[in-house]
Amino acid sequence: MTDSIRVHGGRALRGEIHVRGAKNFVSKAMVAALLGSTPSTLRNVPQIRDVEVVSSLLSLHGAPVDYDVETGVLHADTSNLTTADAFQIAQHAGSSRIPILLCGPLLHRIGEAVIPDLGGCRIGDRPIDFHLDILKKFGAQVEEGPDGLYLTAPNGLKGIKYELSYPSVGATEQLLLTAVMAEGITTLHNAAVEPEIKDLIDTLQTMGAIISVDTDRSLTIEGVKELRGFDHTALTDRIEVGSWACAALATKGDIFVRGAQQRHMGYFLNVFRKVGGEFDITSDGIRFYHPGTELKPIALQTDVHPGFMTDWQQPMVVALTQATGLSIVHETVYENRLGFTGALNQMGAQVQLFRECLGDKQCRFGQLNFQHSAVISGPTPLAAADIEVPDLRGGFSYLIAALAAEGTSTVSNIGIIDRGYENFREKLTALGAAVD
Ligand code: EPU
Repeated sequence: MTDSIRVHGGRALRGEIHVRGAKNFVSKAMVAALLGSTPSTLRNVPQIRDVEVVSSLLSLHGAPVDYDVETGVLHADTSNLTTADAFQIAQHAGSSRIPILLCGPLLHRIGEAVIPDLGGCRIGDRPIDFHLDILKKFGAQVEEGPDGLYLTAPNGLKGIKYELSYPSVGATEQLLLTAVMAEGITTLHNAAVEPEIKDLIDTLQTMGAIISVDTDRSLTIEGVKELRGFDHTALTDRIEVGSWACAALATKGDIFVRGAQQRHMGYFLNVFRKVGGEFDITSDGIRFYHPGTELKPIALQTDVHPGFMTDWQQPMVVALTQATGLSIVHETVYENRLGFTGALNQMGAQVQLFRECLGDKQCRFGQLNFQHSAVISGPTPLAAADIEVPDLRGGFSYLIAALAAEGTSTVSNIGIIDRGYENFREKLTALGAAVD
């Protein structure tokens, strides 16, 4: 498969597509399976590269994975786990940050774990300090080796009281995956409460874990000695749903997203409506469509749940290039998630970046010289260009821009998009896009 796609833009996307389980839950549920001494079944699993990556990581640790693409059913047999070496893990993980989440489950089940040098999308520094601090507090011993970090827990892992300085998704997952089998009680304050985390908590509960969620972002986990496998259906990928919704808006199209669930899309739907987009909610999915009149500008800040997701920001910015007037976007989750707008400007957009917090939330990046606010002036017709995908969400956003632009664009490095968008080429064709 070539790593670029030609997009003959200027056509409205119309039709129906199906979105399956959330990348950012499915990968974590597969890691949770490692905690179970009996096999697990995960349903609604999409065919994306992150699923392949975690499948290989599980297999490397002695847990064979069987995935049926058609039905989306994945079985993992985690009854007998073994150790894997850092070099092999790094080779299979590629740029994924998932290996760090394997540590708690592996320490519980086999007493050791390895973290190779980590990658992930280039959207900021993306440190792992919270993760390591949490693991050490539980009692893990961390040593630096030639290929990465080696972890052991000679005295077992014991429950902790912890407060996150920022409600990090990954750090909350790290703590959950470690606390469920740690001795005693763990409490976490300032936890992330994204729907994907709620689904992970439900999965762990099915396995036999005891977790309570308080109204003030606090979690309490009572450790248990053993967990069993689970049978669970993944929630829909709300980032993918939002991405297609923005594609409908930017191309003046009309897309029915089968599988989209209103309850996970609340903030997005409000913003979509304020921009002037229309939607119809049904029990099978959500139809998103352009109103046929001018789109309106908005002021928007990304935030942790229940705010506007940072992952919706990039596709929404492309749609906002078509709104009449000045829109303001303040990115408060990642310090470096607006760099993708440079290519949009080459295509004719007018996006200006600022170091200041352009919004009432004083975020962590305000005084730190990061261009994390944008002013978008529209509507600007977009012209075709040759563009290279910088990261997963930025990449899909470039596809949207190319679809909205007059002429033929070449979007390269699209392999990154396969990490999180199932069959996106086929879906584009099904929606009437001219791509080859
Ligand atoms: N952070 C730290 N130290 C840490 C961990 C995080 O400072 O040890 C900071 C990060 O640098 C960032 C902020 O905390 O500024 C939030 O990061 P978080 O830990 O919440 O993100 P994550 O767990 O690494 C997940 C998703 C991201 C999504 C974020 C926020 C996965 C695999 N990734 O990342 O998804 O943007 O939560 O919702 O679940 C994507 O799907 O394209 C993607 C990047």
